[in-house]
Amino acid sequence: MENHANQGTPELRRAARLSVAPMMDWTDRHCRYFHRLISTETLLFTEMVTAPALVRGGALHLLDYAPEEHPVALQLGGSDPAELRQAARMGAEAGYDEVNLNVGCPSDRVQSGCFGAILMTRPELVAECVSEMQAECRAEVTVKCRIGVDEQIPEDVLPAFIETVAAAGVTRFTIHARKAWLEGLSPKENRDIPPLDYPLVHRMKAAYPHLHISINGGIATLDDAIPHLEQGLDGVMIGRAAYHQPYDILGTADARIYGKGTGPTRAEVVHQMLPYIEAHLTAGGRLNQITRHMLGLFAGQPGARQWRRYLSENAHATGAGPETVLAALAQIPEAA
Ligand SMILES: Cc1cc2nc3c(=O)[nH]c(=O)nc-3n(C[C@H](O)[C@H](O)[C@H](O)COP(=O)(O)O)c2cc1C
Repeated sequence: MENHANQGTPELRRAARLSVAPMMDWTDRHCRYFHRLISTETLLFTEMVTAPALVRGGALHLLDYAPEEHPVALQLGGSDPAELRQAARMGAEAGYDEVNLNVGCPSDRVQSGCFGAILMTRPELVAECVSEMQAECRAEVTVKCRIGVDEQIPEDVLPAFIETVAAAGVTRFTIHARKAWLEGLSPKENRDIPPLDYPLVHRMKAAYPHLHISINGGIATLDDAIPHLEQGLDGVMIGRAAYHQPYDILGTADARIYGKGTGPTRAEVVHQMLPYIEAHLTAGGRLNQITRHMLGLFAGQPGARQWRRYLSENAHATGAGPETVLAALAQIPEAA
């Protein structure tokens, strides 16, 4: 049967040359708005949203985002094809550019619902899920996976997984280049302890040149990311480094990855956040909900510690607002 799934626009494929990883509790809409000010081009991901929360729980607020965030991908968690179909449709209707299925998350909560990394053992089920997701979803459906779990042999299971899922119409994959060990490691340990195997991900690109393949895991700088692109991979996804040192990763990404001009300075980013912060406060939100994502903005710069400390100590206080942010900025010698 001919597959009418959205195979992704050239713009989206280009944006995916660099992406900021989906991270629960971290890449919420405030974080993404902030990242978008630093880089206009990079693809941004939501936190994982579970299909049951959307479909059964009616938690539509989980889909809220600002139009400025585009290009932005919604990541879904789940393993019930019919439920994922509905959730993907809801995501596309909300305007997300991409709907991504999580096949990499090892947390207990996720395993008990049979989704996340455990799905590496069920490629046929993943194929069924993505097929259903594509059925009513105008956005491109993509997959983020590991190289295997537990006793699996990545060299064998990863190509089999990719082939099975690609046969269902998916043409873009992000591969976290390490296994998930589902017994005995915490989710945090599962992001550090299983060894990275970058060459395997490069071999997947060589084996399936028609697929768009991004690499993820342990990439700490843009200097470390670029060689992966030069060696033929289509994209690099960065998680923790982009969160903790957002300017180091995203500040020169538009110029170095996308051939665009350089964006605002760190201090300019702070000023550009102020109207967004004001709107959030007016709507009843708290300053800290936004500034907690901005603590790493000056990482490595003179005054970084004072900026971080000032915001940590003051942004949660009642009445804290833009002036608190400006007072924190005054801690930075260059900005002052
Ligand atoms: C706090 C935190 C939350 C995460 N939540 C998710 C998630 O919701 N979905 C997902 O696919 N991966 C999640 N991850 C994994 C990241 O997307 C990424 O694969 C991992 O951190 C490895 O990339 P890095 O070394 O660049 O951080 C999370 C990672 C962190 C640190």
